[in-house]
Amino acid sequence: MAVNVVILAAGQGKRMNSALPKVLHRLAGMPLLAHVIAAARALKPRRICVVYGYGGEQVPQTMRAGDLIFVRQKQQLGTGHAVKQALPQLDARADTLVLYGDVPLISAGTLRKMVAGRGEGLRLLTAQFENPAGYGRILRNARGAVTGIVEEKDASAEQRRIHEGNTGLMLLPTKRLAAWLSRLSNRNAQGEYYLTDVVALALQDGVRIATVAPKALWEIQGVNSQQQLAELERAYQFEAARRLLDSGVNLADPRRFDLRGDLRCGRDVRIDINCVFEGDVRLGAGVEIGANCVIRNTTIGAGSRIAPFTMIDEARIGARCIVGPFARIRPATTLANEVHIGNFVEVKASTIGQGSKANHLSYVGDTQVGRKVNVGAGSITCNYDGANKHRTVIEDEVFIGSNTQLVAPVTVRRGATIGAGSTITKDAPANQLTLSRARQISIANWQRPRKAAKVTKGK
Ligand code: UD1
Ligand code: MG
Repeated sequence: MAVNVVILAAGQGKRMNSALPKVLHRLAGMPLLAHVIAAARALKPRRICVVYGYGGEQVPQTMRAGDLIFVRQKQQLGTGHAVKQALPQLDARADTLVLYGDVPLISAGTLRKMVAGRGEGLRLLTAQFENPAGYGRILRNARGAVTGIVEEKDASAEQRRIHEGNTGLMLLPTKRLAAWLSRLSNRNAQGEYYLTDVVALALQDGVRIATVAPKALWEIQGVNSQQQLAELERAYQFEAARRLLDSGVNLADPRRFDLRGDLRCGRDVRIDINCVFEGDVRLGAGVEIGANCVIRNTTIGAGSRIAPFTMIDEARIGARCIVGPFARIRPATTLANEVHIGNFVEVKASTIGQGSKANHLSYVGDTQVGRKVNVGAGSITCNYDGANKHRTVIEDEVFIGSNTQLVAPVTVRRGATIGAGSTITKDAPANQLTLSRARQISIANWQRPRKAAKVTKGK
């Protein structure tokens, strides 16, 4: 069914105690509002209209996209007033689905249930709450038909005992909306134009009212405080972990796992505790990720092992590599198959050929490394002259002795050996030993300096 989506996102979120508009706070690495927009897009709606207000232009500036219409609600006079601001933007032939920017985990599945089929009716997303405090209560008659929604602040003691609560999300017939919204009044406990009052108006007009239930309760949980945001983050992460476990991934602890994007895994992937995956991450079959790794926008080939405390950002790691512990792979890095990058090694914007190794305390930046190269402990590329970056080329089967500085631009030719402790400023020829070390000398009869005797006062 064709729908318009209106996302209410004008509120301040006082209880967040933050200068940032509430809907821009992040859950799983993404603004709350971005989650809602993603669920809305799954419906392929006619329009997606975001009503913003608190925080000035921050919301449209952060979320700008070709398919989004932003409408400013200058004063937050209530949910009914907010929807009214969006009205001129809506396609009158399609129904209108109202979502909340601070209810981030609403699923596309539940939304599809809300818009399924066709009809002139009004549909409310409601749920049975163990503790319905804070929610508007759903009023029903003896036959179970909905007769209205009463806000908690306006409810009688008896009405407050009702457990069925209004999630706030609803589907409305757009053609009737203008008339209903113009009839709302703000004579209530909060002095606001309540969207929920359209229910009574719909009944007066003989419009059918149906309710839909969400698939899971966390879907309709709103964020009003940092506490609720943290709880919802954990609910999201546990759900993500559960899906991975179901698909065959071995997670050491689903309670100590964080996904901020999309993670796709081959068969028999093992992930130890406290790892964070960001953006688009793909792990080939049999990949093992050690504890406390952060991996972002990266593809890792089959059988590779990432040892603990490793950080990988925008890289391509081949098959059967070993990286870490304590390694840092920075953007634009490609490791071919069977590469070993060891502890305290940093690699940036470099390609490293098959079977090459840099196992200890190195910096490899802006470098092209061939196959079967060994970069000795403590060796670094000096890629930056203070103004510009320069490239280093290390051809196949080169051996770089420990504590070497390769001052770029420089090329080490195929099969060359660089003596330990060298500073290489000119190209090194193929198959030769090149070294720039000062000759070692020993001085016989040399005496270590001795401590001068202390002169004590008064003596
Ligand atoms: C609303 C519902 C209540 C429901 C509850 C669920 C009304 C009158 N009440 O109450 O029945 O149980 O949500 O959480 O609708 N907003 C605007 N502009 C405004 C006012 C609100 O954009 O002028 C946005 C808020 O940012 C928020 C959403 O609308 O995303 C809901 O507003 P809120 O003030 O939280 O409504 P509740 O009092 O919780
Ligand atoms: Mg609320």
